[in-house]
Amino acid sequence: MTFQTLGLSEPLVRALEAKGYTNPTPIQAQAIPTVLEGGDLLGIAQTGTGKTAAFVLPSIQRMVAAQKRVLPTHCRMLVLAPTRELASQIADSAREYGKFSKMSVTTVFGGTSINKNRQDMSRGVDILVATPGRLIDLVEQGFVNLSMIEILVLDEADQMLDLGFIHALKKIVRMVPRKRQTLFFSATMPASIRELANQFLHEPATVSVKPAATTAERVDQLVTFVNQTEKQALLTLVLQDETIDRALVFTRTKHGADRVVKLLAGNGIASNAIHGNKSQGQRERALGEFKSGSVRILVATDIAARGIDVSGVSHVVNFELPNVPEQYVHRIGRTARAGASGIAVSFCADDERPYLKDIERTTRQKIPVQPLPEDFANKANQIKSQRVKAIGNDPAPREDRPRGARPPARPRATHAPTPTGTGGGRNYANASRGGRGGGQGQGRSGGGGGRGRGGSGGGQGRGAGSSASR
Ligand SMILES: Nc1ncnc2c1ncn2[C@@H]1O[C@H](COP(=O)(O)OP(=O)(O)OP(=O)(O)O)[C@@H](O)[C@H]1O
Ligand SMILES: [Mg+2]
Repeated sequence: MTFQTLGLSEPLVRALEAKGYTNPTPIQAQAIPTVLEGGDLLGIAQTGTGKTAAFVLPSIQRMVAAQKRVLPTHCRMLVLAPTRELASQIADSAREYGKFSKMSVTTVFGGTSINKNRQDMSRGVDILVATPGRLIDLVEQGFVNLSMIEILVLDEADQMLDLGFIHALKKIVRMVPRKRQTLFFSATMPASIRELANQFLHEPATVSVKPAATTAERVDQLVTFVNQTEKQALLTLVLQDETIDRALVFTRTKHGADRVVKLLAGNGIASNAIHGNKSQGQRERALGEFKSGSVRILVATDIAARGIDVSGVSHVVNFELPNVPEQYVHRIGRTARAGASGIAVSFCADDERPYLKDIERTTRQKIPVQPLPEDFANKANQIKSQRVKAIGNDPAPREDRPRGARPPARPRATHAPTPTGTGGGRNYANASRGGRGGGQGQGRSGGGGGRGRGGSGGGQGRGAGSSASR
């Protein structure tokens, strides 16, 4: 099958050829003809399988065919995304895919100049990619008008329909014409959200390449049980492996991300943090340096979990497990994109075991256990003393919550001992499909190195909404 046989026009095919794409991916093959016919669509496909082109290409073709001229401050297609970085990336893709189709593209999102947004929108634009908050501000100030929209897209639709965004989304949908085409895309779609999604879609076709929440095929997943207090040492050991090309490390909180960066620096490992407390400039620089490879480790909150497409990410490390199981699918999907392979390592402290269970249930798989590296207790001590020499004592971790606020409820701990078995010579960098020990069982050798239950003081409590703390 080719892009021509899917019915795409010559200027679009030419743009795809320029990008070196020869064949459509399964979601593209299934979604493009349906979108070209003008119907609503719910598209579910694994991370890194080209969903962006699946909605951008046919939408451009329909807009070109309709030959409408956009009026000042209006747009014809609106794409909503949960983060600034993702909105910016979608706009870049739309510019590339639409470069021979004369489509204008712009973005509006927080952290940028509202005056610049106003100027960009003054003559109207074909494709507007936005985050909801800034878009609503601009509409309310009269700088953007949504009444000419022909196509509305929700990328990461399940997140856009989740608590953090639903209020803003409803507001936006009220300003968009009823007669429109609506397209929802994600790699995950919890049943509860799917019902809500149907309220915004009109007789949608559902294209599901694999069941929702299927993890990317070529990502090798591992979990290591480790005390919260030992995670930093384990991370240092993992990242010291020179075969690691580029690693994205996820923490639960913004403060946690900063702390990991600081402690890694104490062991001579350079990294940047990206999260919601960083300025726009810092966010752009951190992602830019990660993309270029000049800083090969990026420590992030879930702000970077969805949609971000950086080629060459060899490893994703879950320093802490996400409390929302779908986030695991998105986080590990930052590696193994567009046919590449990758490794996802999750650190699981005792009180995170309920999250692991949830993740395994949602993704319908058991994550193989990678025991702690051989002689881990000694290595951890060496790492710690090297760090103390460099930067002094590790500041006590604290929760990312306002002073005086009650700590969020802790999940029930399982009280199982944290296994500290030996790694048998393998390491995280070369863990290859099917070549690991540990099998499916929860390894439990319980050797030296365990220091009581993990998580004490590690800040394991999790609030309900994951977006609030990003
Ligand atoms: N037909 C194709 N052939 C080769 N590469 C492609 C093709 N379509 C898209 N790509 C590339 O695949 C990568 C992933 O695409 P994209 O970001 O759209 O994935 P996604 O399905 O939206 O993933 P996520 O669920 O993480 O958002 C991009 O680098 C894109 O350029
Ligand atoms: Mg995407």
